[in-house]
Amino acid sequence: MLALVPLCSAFAPGLSVAPRAPRTAVHRAPVPEASLGIDLKGKVAFVAGVADSAGYGWAIVKALSEAGATVAVGTWPPVLAIFEKSLKSGKLDDDLILSDGSKMAVPKIYPLDAVFDEPADVPDDVKNNKRYAGLDGYTISEVAAKVQADYGKVDVLVHSLANGPEVKRPLMQVSRNGYLAAASASSYSMVSLAQKFTPFMNKGGSILSLSFVAAERVVPGYGGGMSSAKAQLESDTRVLAFELGRAYGVRINSISAGALKSRAASAIGGARGEKTYIEYCIDYAEANSPLVRDLTADDVGATAAFLSSPLAAGITGTIVYVDNGLQAMAAGIDAKSFDGYQFSYPFEMPGCPPAPVPE
Ligand SMILES: NC(=O)c1ccc[n+]([C@@H]2O[C@H](COP(=O)([O-])OP(=O)(O)OC[C@H]3O[C@@H](n4cnc5c(N)ncnc54)[C@H](O)[C@@H]3O)[C@@H](O)[C@H]2O)c1
Repeated sequence: MLALVPLCSAFAPGLSVAPRAPRTAVHRAPVPEASLGIDLKGKVAFVAGVADSAGYGWAIVKALSEAGATVAVGTWPPVLAIFEKSLKSGKLDDDLILSDGSKMAVPKIYPLDAVFDEPADVPDDVKNNKRYAGLDGYTISEVAAKVQADYGKVDVLVHSLANGPEVKRPLMQVSRNGYLAAASASSYSMVSLAQKFTPFMNKGGSILSLSFVAAERVVPGYGGGMSSAKAQLESDTRVLAFELGRAYGVRINSISAGALKSRAASAIGGARGEKTYIEYCIDYAEANSPLVRDLTADDVGATAAFLSSPLAAGITGTIVYVDNGLQAMAAGIDAKSFDGYQFSYPFEMPGCPPAPVPE
């Protein structure tokens, strides 16, 4: 006679699965919030990678604050003093104003260098560097311990940082050190943050990172192994979704964002005063995206707030594009190769703008 083997142990002999009660039909769960508004009141968020108000990190801080969360940030030591000075001097005051006219609380700032996991990892030349001297506890494990001591539990963790020292070089010319440095700062840092923070995150909590379409398609000019780092980030998002979901009930997603003229992106290429690489990227996106509108950092902030909220309770392991739809295009309609071709749009349909008159 055949023995009945539970399916799971047939696949993984070491795993035993507790028998579960018969399922009852559950079509409705209690609505997590009274309405479909994003409500993060009482939640604590930590956003790693904020040093000015121009980037995606700041927009995410604002959106989470707008939804009622208490937000703290992690700032890279080399830019910490200038960030603190900008906040103190009132230079960023306008950027603190929320949609109801109130002023957002200035987030608590933790010095954070996300390429170091433990104090023993910090080399002497960094310890003695004038930008790090006088600071302590900026490795990921130390920052996690400080945040836990200050807030207890955390609900939202955002990784909004990247660094690729050889970003201007094509992959064919990237050194091993440059490639690994990009991966260390831009993708392993997310894994490490997840490792150190998740144990004190509330069940139902959310982790989010910022990716770029170069993870999956070729974006010429985005070099230095940064495309590889973003591909890792996206793959790790899927694997961690499984591991964190099973172990902690925590979700993890990534936003694949469109081009934004942030400080980091402006450093990719173009001398001061010249049109920079990111400005070309923004022009390209505007000329070719399905949606003809400016992409703003707040577009990403709003999506981040949604993904961090109980409204997204069933979403994990996904890459969400916030790019005006550019990733859907396989051809640039403003490419020189199409010069002279009369595209059949705008087309004549009720409500459409008039078609251009052929020359
Ligand atoms: N700007 C874009 O066009 C664009 C597009 C898609 C995705 N992204 C991603 O968005 C995220 C935020 O970047 P951004 O463009 O808004 O620029 P940004 O300059 O606002 O943010 C990058 C941050 O990373 C920090 N950082 C660098 N190395 C660090 C380290 N070792 N430890 C801690 N912090 C470190 C910088 O200090 C900076 O605050 C990044 O992951 C970036 O790749 C940006």
